[in-house]
Amino acid sequence: MRTLKVSTGEQTYPILIGRDLYARLPEWLRSRGIGPDRPLMLVTDTHVGPLYGEKVAGPLRAAGYRVGEASVPAGESSKSLEQLSRLVEEGLRFGLDRQGVVLALGGGVVGDLAGFLAASYMRGIPFVQLPTTLLAHDSSVGGKVGVNHPLGKNVIGAFHQPLMVVFDVSTLRTLPRREVVSGYAEVVKHALIADASFADWLLRNSERLLRLEPSLVEEAIWNGCRIKAEVVSQDEREAGLRAILNYGHTIGHALEAASGYAGLTHGEGVAIGMVGAAMLAEALGTARDVVEPTKRLLQAFHLPVHLAGEWPEEKLLELMRRDKKARGGVYAFVLPERIGSVRLVRGIPEEAIRRVLRRLKSG
Ligand SMILES: NC(=O)c1ccc[n+]([C@@H]2O[C@H](COP(=O)([O-])OP(=O)(O)OC[C@H]3O[C@@H](n4cnc5c(N)ncnc54)[C@H](O)[C@@H]3O)[C@@H](O)[C@H]2O)c1
Ligand SMILES: [Zn+2]
Repeated sequence: MRTLKVSTGEQTYPILIGRDLYARLPEWLRSRGIGPDRPLMLVTDTHVGPLYGEKVAGPLRAAGYRVGEASVPAGESSKSLEQLSRLVEEGLRFGLDRQGVVLALGGGVVGDLAGFLAASYMRGIPFVQLPTTLLAHDSSVGGKVGVNHPLGKNVIGAFHQPLMVVFDVSTLRTLPRREVVSGYAEVVKHALIADASFADWLLRNSERLLRLEPSLVEEAIWNGCRIKAEVVSQDEREAGLRAILNYGHTIGHALEAASGYAGLTHGEGVAIGMVGAAMLAEALGTARDVVEPTKRLLQAFHLPVHLAGEWPEEKLLELMRRDKKARGGVYAFVLPERIGSVRLVRGIPEEAIRRVLRRLKSG
C-alpha cells in the first residue's frame, strides 16, 4: 500500500492506495476519530453498488457501525439537484445527523455528488472518498465537489475536503476499457504539466498500465495524486497556479460540449486538447519539440491525438471564448514550455487557434 498526505489550508488528510483495502476501513475510520457511534451513509451508483457495496458495508457493520445505503443511476446525469435532494431525503430517513459521515463509493460522479451532499447536509458533515475509476484519482484531490445545472456543468458546488481517500485499485478490474483509457489521459496530463521523468516512466510502462498491473497502477495513481496535491496545496481556491491543471481542457471541454457530451469521453477530449495546446505552443514559438512526444505518450495509452469527422469550427471557438480561463472574450490556454512544464498564456490570437483546429483534423 502507498500513502500520501494532502495538506490544505485547514487540514491534512491521507490518501491510501492499494489492493483489497476495504476490510481495513473500520480501523482507519477509528484512527480518524470516527467510531461506531457515528452513523455512516454509503452513497454509490447502480454499476458500482452491486459490485462493491457489500465489500465496504460488510466489514463496517461487522465492526458495529450503522450503515445506510443510497444509490443513484450510473452516469453524469445523476450529478443533479434532483439526486441531491433524493439523497438528503434518504439521509434524513436513515437518521443521518450532524455526527454522520458520508462514504462516496464510485467514480467522479459519485465523488462530486456525495461530496456536495456532505458539504451541504446540515451545514456540512465529513466524507470519505472511495474512488473506483482511474479518473477519480483526479477528482479525489482538491476538494471540489458539486452538481451540474441544466445550463452548465459543475455550476453548483463547494470546496469540501475529504476526511480521507481510500483508493482500492482492485476495483479497477471491472472498469470498462474505454473508461480505463480515458482515465489515463488525466494521469498523462499530470506528468506533462509537472514531471518529465514521470512522463518517461509512463511511456515505458504504458502496456502494463493498460493491463492494470496493480503495483504499477498504484504507482501511477500515487504520482498523479501527488502532482495534483502539490499544485492544489499552493493554490487551494484556484487563484492562479491551479489553472495549469486545466491543461488540454480548453479544447477538450469545447469538444465535449460540441459533441453533446456523447461522442467523446472527457479523457479523449483532454488528450486531443493537449495535442492542440502543444501545436499552439510550437506555432507561437513558445516551445519546441513538444507535439511529437505528447502524441507518442498519448498513443501509447491508445488515446486519440487527432480529430476524426466534422467539427463546427465557429462553435468550438465560441465555446473556448467562454472557457473559465478566458477574460472578456480573449482566449487563454495552458501551453507547454517543454515536457513537464506548462504555463497559462492569455491573449492567444484566434487565427492561431483556427490553424491548430485544422491541423488537428489532418492528423
Ligand atoms: N472534483 C474534481 O476535481 C473533478 C476532477 C475531474 C473530474 N471530475 C468529475 O468526475 C466526473 C467523471 O468521473 P468518472 O470518469 O469517474 O465517471 P463516472 O463516475 O460516471 O464513472 C464512469 C462509469 O464507470 C462506472 N464505474 C465506476 N467505477 C467502476 C468500476 N470499478 N467497475 C465498473 N464500473 C465502474 C460508473 O458507474 C460509470 O458508469 C465528471 O462529472 C467530472 O466533472 C471532478
Ligand atoms: Zn479533466
